[in-house]
Amino acid sequence: MIDLTGQLALVTGSSRGIGRACALRLAEAGADVVINYVTSLAAADELAREIQNLGRCVYVVKADVSERDDVESLMEFIDEQAGRLDILVSNAATGGFRPLLAASERNFATTMKTNVLALVHLVQAGVRLLERSAGRAKVVTISSHGSHMAIPMYGMVGSSKAALESMARHLALEVGERGINVNVVKAGLVATDSTSRIPYADELFASRRARSMTGDRLLTAEDVANAVLFLCSPLSDMIQGETLTIDGGAAVHA
Ligand SMILES: NC(=O)c1ccc[n+]([C@@H]2O[C@H](COP(=O)([O-])OP(=O)(O)OC[C@H]3O[C@@H](n4cnc5c(N)ncnc54)[C@H](OP(=O)(O)O)[C@@H]3O)[C@@H](O)[C@H]2O)c1
Repeated sequence: MIDLTGQLALVTGSSRGIGRACALRLAEAGADVVINYVTSLAAADELAREIQNLGRCVYVVKADVSERDDVESLMEFIDEQAGRLDILVSNAATGGFRPLLAASERNFATTMKTNVLALVHLVQAGVRLLERSAGRAKVVTISSHGSHMAIPMYGMVGSSKAALESMARHLALEVGERGINVNVVKAGLVATDSTSRIPYADELFASRRARSMTGDRLLTAEDVANAVLFLCSPLSDMIQGETLTIDGGAAVHA
């Protein structure tokens, strides 16, 4: 039984999709939650009400994680409210689906700033708060199959996820001695707003279903949140700098 009572968790990009499921799962396990969004205030507020109904403390903070100033303000807010942070789930990402041959420098900068640099900014701005956690503080970020597979129109996001996984390992090396674990959950395909925009989504979901080694059921945001919950709990204190894949076996299927 994982009990996170009294812990404070920040989940970036938690107004929708996988981030939302992570925030809810952490709250169900007892954590108070900082919900972060950038455009979807109504969805963030709805999640806040759901978490409040569980009896948890909840904060809703607008911040664009690709902007260093926003990240610093977010951490200042947490410092003022709680004075510490126990769990940081760096989930927010962007990218769009296009061939690398059609990608612009602007696409590259936006994707890398949101998907990779944000983790560095979050840990830089939050490290003093994370150090104040009573147990080992947990940082978890979300990667995807694109970090090691070639997926049509996913080159920009995929390569950002490869960089993210390396970044997490190097951050683990830098902050491990300071009482912080940094790990990655590499998720398979999940039906969310982002995957509904994939031009060949039906084909991709059918291929993941065919590759699954856990039966016919497709992966859900809640499945991913369960893996995140584990890596945010004391059960994973000795797991450091690792990438945990949750995809029903799709990535290892020949
Ligand atoms: N879905 C999949 O199949 C899949 C698979 C593997 C990994 N992942 C990863 O899982 C994570 C979540 O994906 P998802 O499919 O759940 O995405 P999603 O449904 O599109 O939701 C994205 C969330 O991120 C927020 N966001 C986007 N840009 C932001 C920014 N600059 N600053 C702060 N928040 C921002 C959005 O906020 P607003 O609502 O305010 O816009 C929203 O809450 C991503 O890292 C993604 O790469 C997804």
